[in-house]
Amino acid sequence: MRFFVSILFLAFPVALAIECFTGFTYIRGVSVGTSKQRCSSDSDYCYNVTADLTSLNLISKSGCSSLMCRFNHNKCIEKSFLGKSGRFCCCNTGDLCNSKATGQTTLEKFSDKMHDFARIFG
Ligand SMILES: *[C@@H]1O[C@H](CO)[C@@H](O)[C@H](O)[C@H]1NC(C)=O
Repeated sequence: MRFFVSILFLAFPVALAIECFTGFTYIRGVSVGTSKQRCSSDSDYCYNVTADLTSLNLISKSGCSSLMCRFNHNKCIEKSFLGKSGRFCCCNTGDLCNSKATGQTTLEKFSDKMHDFARIFG
């Protein structure tokens, strides 16, 4: 019986896949047009890539990936893009962890908390 239950847990992981900020963002002081995505796989990490173009302009790409984040769990590494230095970060510490938690309304924070709550006890 206990064996059967373990099989069930393996077959239907309790945790939902993480939610990440996704898309391509052109930043000039603030980030623009950021959308969100629920990753398709439990093993996915949120990532973001940021490259400094000038002191004011940043190019940033973000989304879900398990492949790109294989060797880069919950940390940032320096990478170069098009001759510019950039940062490549991966995380799975929580929903939307691949960006600063700015721009999130109190209501959204509240609903995220309820979501976490449901996930733990659901
Ligand atoms: C990228 O994600 C890291 C966490 O992994 C976060 O600290 C950083 O602020 C993010 N960068 C941008 C440009 O949002």
